[in-house]
Amino acid sequence: MYSLIRKALFSLDAEVAHDLTIKSLKNLGAGPLKLFFPNKPADKPVDVMGIHFPNPVGLAAGLDKNGECINAFGALGFGFVEIGTITPRPQPGNDKPRIFRLPAANAVINRMGFNNKGVDYLVQQVRKANFKGVLGINIGKNKDTPEENAKDDYLHCMRKVYNFASYITINISSPNTPGLRSLQYGEALNELLSALKTEQKSLAEQYDKYVPLAVKIAPDLTQEEIEGIAQCLLDNNIDGVIATNTTLARDKVEHLEFGNEQGGLSGAPVTDQSTKVIGLLSQALDKKIPIIGVGGIMSAQDAQEKLDAGASLVQIYTGFIYQGPELVNDIVDSL
Ligand SMILES: Cc1cc2nc3c(=O)[nH]c(=O)nc-3n(C[C@H](O)[C@H](O)[C@H](O)COP(=O)(O)O)c2cc1C
Repeated sequence: MYSLIRKALFSLDAEVAHDLTIKSLKNLGAGPLKLFFPNKPADKPVDVMGIHFPNPVGLAAGLDKNGECINAFGALGFGFVEIGTITPRPQPGNDKPRIFRLPAANAVINRMGFNNKGVDYLVQQVRKANFKGVLGINIGKNKDTPEENAKDDYLHCMRKVYNFASYITINISSPNTPGLRSLQYGEALNELLSALKTEQKSLAEQYDKYVPLAVKIAPDLTQEEIEGIAQCLLDNNIDGVIATNTTLARDKVEHLEFGNEQGGLSGAPVTDQSTKVIGLLSQALDKKIPIIGVGGIMSAQDAQEKLDAGASLVQIYTGFIYQGPELVNDIVDSL
């Protein structure tokens, strides 16, 4: 079934195909989708960050940025769905074209730049969905917010989404928002995380529920930088870490059409790089903070390698574009 859908979608411009997919999933809803994709993976429950997941395979952030298709993605068998990245105010993102397929490498390059309808719109969608599964909400900063005020954007989004999220992801690793990745280092990271932890404490009292915080990091980090981040996560009692976002590296694709487009590269060329980051993180964290592994999972074996490297959960994005919901089944069934 998906091979036919993919053929049709791949004949369109990548962003047109993306928008059409989101619109169709939004309009179709969960019921009819189950008719097209009846094979739901078996339950393979796992408890991570104090949350019960029906299976360890999630949808990675960025596909459903505004939370418009939560029930549809839930119906496709994902054990959890992460929506966002959302910012305080709506913003258009970068100029088009800004997403490119590299089929010869099973890859995508994107420089979307957090195009989204703003956190209030996302919260409306989440309320409407009344989703019963595990929902991650990924938050970021507006492009025009100065770097020194980034913290305020994260705090604003966190307050708005807290009561609706199973966990909240702090995205400091998109390569398409200038300055965002500098929040991954040293005192900037420590200041951000300690402010978010203080806010989490007061929100937990206000809502009488504890919502874990996960930090999403880049694959383009040295061992020393990974160890520095790990120490800061430990110092601040962060609940989880998502590794990794897209890469700036181009060595595996520079010979291909679109291979030198600016932005973040995802899919098969990032598999080993992100698994390596997970391995180094796992050593540095010594099992004290769970890792969600993402980056180039295109098969059940790729997912198993992430788990073997130290991840407790995995997420997919580009693999889903290339292979559809069957990839979720394949991974879950192989576990
Ligand atoms: C088109 C596109 C948009 C993305 N947008 C986001 C985003 O808004 N926030 C985020 O944290 N990650 C975003 N990502 C990164 C993915 O969530 C994931 O970390 C990365 O693509 C590596 O996984 P993959 O190889 O399975 O795609 C995006 C990826 C793609 C391809």
